[in-house]
Amino acid sequence: MARATLKFTPGFLWGTATSAHQVEGNNTLNDWWAWEQQPGHIYKNQSSGIACNWWENAEEDFDRAAEMNTNAHRLSVEWSRIEPEPGKWDDSALDRYRQMVSGLRERGIEPMVTLHHFTNPMWLAEQGGWENPDVVTLFARFARKVVETLGEHVSLWCTLNEPIVLATQSYGFGRWPPGKRSRKAMRRVVVNQLRAHAAAYEAIKEAQPDARIGLAKNMIAVSPARPAWIHRPAARAVRYTFNEAFLLALRDGALKFPGSRTIQLPEVKGSLDWIGVNYYSRYFGRFDLLSPSSFFINASPPSDPERSPAPGWGETYPRGLFENIRYLWETLGLPIYVTENGIPDHEDKKRPAFLLESLKALWDAVNYSWPIRGYFFWSLVDNFEWSEGYDPRFSFGLIEVDFETQERRWRPSGRLYAEICAANGFSSDMAERYAPEVLGRLFPGSPPE
Ligand code: FCB
Repeated sequence: MARATLKFTPGFLWGTATSAHQVEGNNTLNDWWAWEQQPGHIYKNQSSGIACNWWENAEEDFDRAAEMNTNAHRLSVEWSRIEPEPGKWDDSALDRYRQMVSGLRERGIEPMVTLHHFTNPMWLAEQGGWENPDVVTLFARFARKVVETLGEHVSLWCTLNEPIVLATQSYGFGRWPPGKRSRKAMRRVVVNQLRAHAAAYEAIKEAQPDARIGLAKNMIAVSPARPAWIHRPAARAVRYTFNEAFLLALRDGALKFPGSRTIQLPEVKGSLDWIGVNYYSRYFGRFDLLSPSSFFINASPPSDPERSPAPGWGETYPRGLFENIRYLWETLGLPIYVTENGIPDHEDKKRPAFLLESLKALWDAVNYSWPIRGYFFWSLVDNFEWSEGYDPRFSFGLIEVDFETQERRWRPSGRLYAEICAANGFSSDMAERYAPEVLGRLFPGSPPE
């Protein structure tokens, strides 16, 4: 018997999240596919291949999502399938997506559809991708087409996934296609992302006036490295540049990055109905004489590798979810979705505790009466983790996938999440069974019997 249950609000959305390229398989027409074919880009030179085979059969995993008692799922559509050549629409691809979103609905699962999750049609990449200002109208045209086609089943739209992550990985660090390292390019990309988002917002609203439109913003937790009195300004700069600048541009209609002039973008102001937060972990901001290209500032994982779940990944710090939600609420005053939250953990040793502690942070925020509408765990199934490929150390699924055989195996955290979704909350009894190590922290005063 549960001795205590922490409940969420009625109608709360409990979901999982995926993205097209990471699960569909054979997305051969985008820039990532081309990038994967070149040695040195992906863990063990892997390619996404058939991934989780969703293009052929997403439905079996949708059944699992229903068995998990989720009532929402965040997925993305692959631009290069829908528009394989500029201005040419592939109706069979659109039909397949219609089948997917209606299939989710039939299972009682509300789809949230992301229009851009990192990948670009090859033809767009060849035209300069996100550096080319034409991307603004091209993306809005694509968004309109998708909304006209899927709008019967979808009203929750996410324009861009993690714009600043894309800008830094692809144009700053050169780790993702097109592999550039240029601050100027990065800034151009961010301006185009803001404009493209706002243009898509307009286009979607025209096609579907009651659409609810937002985007998924990656937010990290940032603390100063030690000694804090030296590194505090660096931590603040990291937080501003990575977490805040993009959101402030949407709120105020002006983009300001440290060390460069303010760019006025009045047209992007107010182009959000809600904000999504993708939260994973904490990094440490520090001054670093070896980082001249980033104004001698960098953000690194904790020095003790025991505190992060995978190499290079930030520190496991569930409280950061609450801190970032507070920032979003105070800064934007909009409804909030947690559009991603998760942990790389093949053995599922840390995920149950991480899930419960993250939900405790979320529950606190819900009980401050901040308008939090839903939570999407990353991810339903293991999938292609970008540069990390299928490295088992970067397995994020509530359900494990054997990529040789396509077999699925439920992890304990998947069973736990099923109980949470069914209960619209979590109980001390769940903590006792799945993660007794955090029971005392989550439910003070209720030690195990
Ligand atoms: C996020 C991405 C998502 C996935 C998770 C682990 O930054 O949006 O595609 O790779 O990290």
